[in-house]
Order: sequence, then C-alpha cells, then structure tokens
Amino acid sequence: MAKLYIPVLAGTTREQRKSIYAARLVAEVGATFEDVETELVDPKDFHFPGDGNDPEGKDARYTAITERAEAFFIVTPEYNHSIPGSLKRMLDSELQNYIHKPVAFAGASSGQWGGVRAIEALVTTVREMGMVSTFTDMHFPHVQELFDDNGTLLNEHYRNYVEAAWKELIWMTKTLQHGREHIAPLE
Ligand SMILES: Cc1cc2nc3c(=O)[nH]c(=O)nc-3n(C[C@H](O)[C@H](O)[C@H](O)COP(=O)(O)O)c2cc1C
Repeated sequence: MAKLYIPVLAGTTREQRKSIYAARLVAEVGATFEDVETELVDPKDFHFPGDGNDPEGKDARYTAITERAEAFFIVTPEYNHSIPGSLKRMLDSELQNYIHKPVAFAGASSGQWGGVRAIEALVTTVREMGMVSTFTDMHFPHVQELFDDNGTLLNEHYRNYVEAAWKELIWMTKTLQHGREHIAPLE
C-alpha cells in the first residue's frame, strides 16, 4: 500500500524561532510510522511574492506539496493570539488543494498556554479552506525550556504526546482518503 504523504508545516520565519524545534520533532515522530511519508515544510524555504492565490502569488513547490498531501500537520507559534503572517500567507496561496483533507495542530509559545490561542484562531481559517480538524491538539508551553540550543528534546513525554496526535491524524487521513476515493461526491 502506498504511504500516506503528510507534510508538517512550520509556522514562522523568525530568525531566533524556537517553534522550529517542535516542528522538527513532529516531523521526526511522523517518519517513525511505517505508513507515513513526511517532510518539514519551512516557510523560510518558499517565496510568495504577494497576497492571494492568483498564479503569480504561488510557489510551485508548495502547490505540488499541497496537491500530493493526504493531510497536514501544522506546527505554529502564537503571535499576538494568532498565527504568524508567514504561515497565513503560505496557506492562503492555495485554495482547492486542502478540501476534505484532515489537519492536526501543534502550538508553541514561551508562556504557559502552548499556543492554544493560535490554534483556536487557525481552526476557523482551515475550516474555510475545507480542511477537517483532528481532536487531539499538541501544545508546547515554555518551548524555550523543552529543547536545548541544538533543538534536542529535554522532556521525552512530549514525544508520546506527538505520537498520539499522529495516530489520530493517520486514522482520519485513511478515513477521509477512503471517502474522497470511494464515495461519490455530492451533486
Ligand atoms: C510577534 C510576536 C508575537 C508574540 N505573541 C505572543 C502571544 O500572543 N502569546 C504568547 O504566548 N507568546 C507570544 N509570543 C512569544 C512566542 O510564544 C515565542 O517567541 C515562542 O518562542 C514561540 O515563537 P517562535 O517560534 O517565534 O520562537 C510572541 C512572539 C512574537 C515574535
């Protein structure tokens, strides 16, 4: 059976960003599932010239990733109780490629809430894009204390939490993949 391609989308391009450690962990754990193919999609590596989803506002590599993806795992820091502009810009650059695909979330913040408000803000956005959210959110509170300066995880419990989030996402991915491929679309 073909592996499920589920990219992990990182949320920020900030030079000193800590949430990238959480995103790398999520991708690393995802790669341990034998039925999953994953990669880290870092907004820093893409170029979106302007707002919107017109052809000139897209990055062809991101278009290809979203076309191929069966699901998404978004790892976002919380910026002013929402998501960073670079993540929103990246998501906005596509329209049709998200429809009826599941999405899981991890939030990261320097404070105690672990990006919960960023995730809440993101839920309304992904719903408008036609994605379907999982139930098991991941949070990385005090993210600067959870990883060392090399990005090594300092609290192994978090690996288990990430694993649980992946398990639900994989289940949902298979369920919706079946629906998209085998159940007649609505007229
Ligand atoms: C522009 C900006 C806004 C922020 N707003 C919030 C916020 O609303 N709530 C919060 O808990 N942390 C906030 N933070 C702190 C982040 O949680 C912190 O930088 C954390 O390390 C995750 O973001 P990072 O990946 O950029 O490092 C903000 C950081 C920046 C740069």
